[in-house]
Amino acid sequence: MNNHTELHIHPIERIWIIISFAMIGVFAIAVLTAGFAYGFQLPVPEDRVVDPNLVATPGATAFGEPGLRELSPGNMEARILAQTWSFSPKEITVPVGTKVTFFVTTKDVQHGFHLEGSNINFMVLPGQISKLSTTFNTPGTYNFYCHEYCGVGHQTMYGQVIVTP
Ligand code: CUA
Repeated sequence: MNNHTELHIHPIERIWIIISFAMIGVFAIAVLTAGFAYGFQLPVPEDRVVDPNLVATPGATAFGEPGLRELSPGNMEARILAQTWSFSPKEITVPVGTKVTFFVTTKDVQHGFHLEGSNINFMVLPGQISKLSTTFNTPGTYNFYCHEYCGVGHQTMYGQVIVTP
């Protein structure tokens, strides 16, 4: 009868166990640093009850007249409506230093929204409003585009944020 209670681990396996736990530690530090030091945000659904059949109707929702609204000096919201195969509006212009909160939804199929040079990157689902914010600190032209395949016109689905000095 074997009454050994000591756990025998092969030296090489022991090394890999240590490496595995070290990697978990590094990843945890990376996630926490991204979240708390660099302000990475998760794309939280803002609202799940928007009716995709009514969303584009003027007056029915805030997406009936999509576009920019100033909330306070230096703080704007952009309501962007996605559809096959365009964004409405296709172009928005803001002064440098503006914080813009993007609200995006779709009136038909699933799309994506990625804004170059920012951490804004989310899926756009019918019936749901996706929301993320960024502050434009450098003048220039920033492209946004659909990154979820949505049909034969998918590659034409893009727009621009123009940041003026
Ligand atoms: Cu919309 Cu791809």
